[in-house]
Amino acid sequence: MNRFSLEGTRVLVTGANTGIGQAIAVDMAGHGAHVIGVGRSAMDETAALVVAAGGRFDAVHSDLATVAGAQAAFAEARDRFGPVDTLVNNAGIIRRADSIDFTEEDWDAVMDINLKVVFFLCQAFARACMAEGRSGSIVNIASLLSFQGGIRIPSYTSSKSGVAGLTKILSNEWAANGITVNAVAPGYVVTNNTEALRADPERNKAILDRIPAGRWAEAGDIAGAVTFLASPAARYVTGITLPVDGGWLAR
Ligand SMILES: NC(=O)c1ccc[n+]([C@@H]2O[C@H](COP(=O)([O-])OP(=O)(O)OC[C@H]3O[C@@H](n4cnc5c(N)ncnc54)[C@H](OP(=O)(O)O)[C@@H]3O)[C@@H](O)[C@H]2O)c1
Repeated sequence: MNRFSLEGTRVLVTGANTGIGQAIAVDMAGHGAHVIGVGRSAMDETAALVVAAGGRFDAVHSDLATVAGAQAAFAEARDRFGPVDTLVNNAGIIRRADSIDFTEEDWDAVMDINLKVVFFLCQAFARACMAEGRSGSIVNIASLLSFQGGIRIPSYTSSKSGVAGLTKILSNEWAANGITVNAVAPGYVVTNNTEALRADPERNKAILDRIPAGRWAEAGDIAGAVTFLASPAARYVTGITLPVDGGWLAR
């Protein structure tokens, strides 16, 4: 038996239309999972990539800015396709401004999507697993800002530090039910999320100079760790936030 295979499992990935979520969907499907993408935008590109690689992909459309929208999407996925084995909480946003000027709107928007909805999706998933008497795995997408402070992103840092804490408490409560709860903390990845940083020559150089690997990550660099944490090979791994950062945090 290949303990790294996801054959026969069903995986729900939020924000699967682009960036890291798309790479996770393609990688997990490539390891045998039936992937259900959840998000507000069309996921045709991801579907095409998964199908080209011989996998199965379905989409559930919902805005993940509200708990009600997230819960409805989870229920729809379960009703249409059956029990979910792995939940990947990937969807997330960032708002940049000096903390001295930061608005309540930018605080709430980020905290709602990056932390509040993540918690309630984890809860919906665990309730379903427990009701069905099934084991499962959750992989949350954290950040280097789960470990560090950063600058000009107060709600993002707070939300991602919260994701690392949430990952630990849910692991404490649910490990005995056979549900592992882990997070992956990507380093600096080339996606929409980091467009502003890469467009600023000074910030871009400062970041590159500090990455031991000497380059930004591609989204595909992050996906393997998520696939591993969802696989039987990681069944005794729970409660961790695993950095995938080209060596940044070791510096
Ligand atoms: N890029 C990095 O360097 C980096 C580093 C550390 C952590 N991360 C984290 O990795 C995750 C993925 O980010 P990314 O870099 O791939 O950024 P991205 O390309 O901007 O993707 C973000 C994803 O979240 C979805 N999303 C945002 N708001 C949503 C909403 N209200 N409802 C439904 N979906 C929504 C987006 O959908 P739309 O396209 O419809 O907006 C998109 O699929 C995020 O949690 C991010 O914080 C990224």
